[in-house]
Amino acid sequence: MFNSRKILSSFVCGLVFFSGVVFAEPTNQAAIATAHPLATQAGIDILKRGGNAFDAAAAVTASLAVVEPYSSGLGGGAFWLIHRASDNKQIMIDGREKAPLRSTTNMYLDKSGDVIKGLSLNGAMAAGIPGVPAGIDHLVKHYGRLSLKDVLAPAIKQAKEGFAVTERYQTLMRYRLDVVKQYPETAQIFLKKYQMPAIDDVIIQKDLAQTLTAIANYGSRGFYQGPIAKQLVASVRHHGGIWELDDLEQYQLVEREPIIINYNGIRVTSASPPSSGGIVLGQALNILEHFKLEQHDSVTRKHIVIEAMRRAYRDRAAYLGDPDFIDIPVERLLDKDYAEGLALTINAKHATPSSELSIITTVEQTGNDTTHFSIIDAEGNRVSATLSINLPFGSGFVAKGTGVLLNNEMDDFSVKPLTANAYGLVGDHANAIAPGKRPLSSMTPTFLETEDQIGILGTPGGSRIISMVLLGVLDFEQGNSPKSWVSLPRYHHQYLPDEVQYELGGLTRAEQSRLKAKGHLLKEKNRQYGNMQAIMIWKKRNLVYAASDPRGEGLAEVFYLP
Ligand code: GLY
Repeated sequence: MFNSRKILSSFVCGLVFFSGVVFAEPTNQAAIATAHPLATQAGIDILKRGGNAFDAAAAVTASLAVVEPYSSGLGGGAFWLIHRASDNKQIMIDGREKAPLRSTTNMYLDKSGDVIKGLSLNGAMAAGIPGVPAGIDHLVKHYGRLSLKDVLAPAIKQAKEGFAVTERYQTLMRYRLDVVKQYPETAQIFLKKYQMPAIDDVIIQKDLAQTLTAIANYGSRGFYQGPIAKQLVASVRHHGGIWELDDLEQYQLVEREPIIINYNGIRVTSASPPSSGGIVLGQALNILEHFKLEQHDSVTRKHIVIEAMRRAYRDRAAYLGDPDFIDIPVERLLDKDYAEGLALTINAKHATPSSELSIITTVEQTGNDTTHFSIIDAEGNRVSATLSINLPFGSGFVAKGTGVLLNNEMDDFSVKPLTANAYGLVGDHANAIAPGKRPLSSMTPTFLETEDQIGILGTPGGSRIISMVLLGVLDFEQGNSPKSWVSLPRYHHQYLPDEVQYELGGLTRAEQSRLKAKGHLLKEKNRQYGNMQAIMIWKKRNLVYAASDPRGEGLAEVFYLP
């Protein structure tokens, strides 16, 4: 019934098992993979200055906030999954945004109960209370060894000196240009005379440099209290938002136990609620454990993976939300017997219509946003982090005088139960809005561990994040390297809409016709999607691999440290 991992080795020097967890003993190699060369460089600089992976993670987080403003930022949220080598601690730092205290369940509905178009997506009303500044502070103070001033120096320099506009910047700006133009503060920073900047135009962010400097000087207090907090709240309120100083002052990070499952001998550690990532990934893998995938032809294999995705995403809509507000039946959802029951409902010859599993309606999905980075230092400390401001350039709104581009993560709530969000994801009351609640996420920063190998991976991509990571895990199981994980053609099913989505060129013509013959409705996206950043450590051979998704503009580096 169970697969065995092809490249599993029986004994490996340099690794010690304890309570089922791999200790990676120090090597002198480190690796960083991020979505932007300047962010990778910021992380390398910090490691070379004597920082550890957690210092580097804070530096990369801050740098991405500057050079990838369309994906993440001080105005957004993140999950940092960390592994500390000295005591084997694995924890998820939850810096997800929180709904403002004056939020109400129906805040995005009109008097007739219909969704007010754009209100949860554009401008000050769309923004949750950011968690990234608190995360930077927490990483450095609780896990790092350098000072915040040292760690934030590269990002502050990048904000002052600027970074060059690239094709990716233009593509993502095109998607949000109309919204950005509505906000002079945003347009002045990210456009040139209200028009799309040209390739190689330089984007300078002086206000953001000052905000970063305040965090460097005063820690998270520099953001959540004092002059910057006042400016944030005043600007949000001026533009119709509902933030209060208390929202910022009361923002709390949470350290949460990650989701851990065992899949065919691979220990998979991933994001716990309020991300749906680890549970959906774990459930899909638990289902797949009941199939000998390698014995099937490629189309049947894809069909089975699609059917596992369909079933795992169904439970997302019904059960998942912020664990501080609702009870989530995590044990049941990840129960091996439950997965076996679901596996038995999969027919290798035919697609199961989602309507046979239960009934929820949905609409079209959009968007490609968020960012991911992976880091390992020479001591074996690791970080897998996924960060977001939701749609490209978030809400499109920069709070005056702060340089902080705010998220539109409020749209990740179930704005109206059983109505789809921007990703076509439906949710129920579990993910309804409440003051101080965190919206359900799909971000899936993940570690993979076997006797002799460690994988670190994740990607942006909205609802498709989880299926991309799932395909990466299956490729790791096949014995392939990060270069293969990040390059794989991608396909996806999220229960509703009941269709197999695949990236441009993601399925061959022969695969398309055979999947159609099995009863699948296919939908090709008009572009490729995802931007995976991955690392693998092969202890037996003392090799470290890193790869950055060829669809993006990122940089993965493996380097030696003294
Ligand atoms: N905003 C994308 C996510 O959290 O899943």
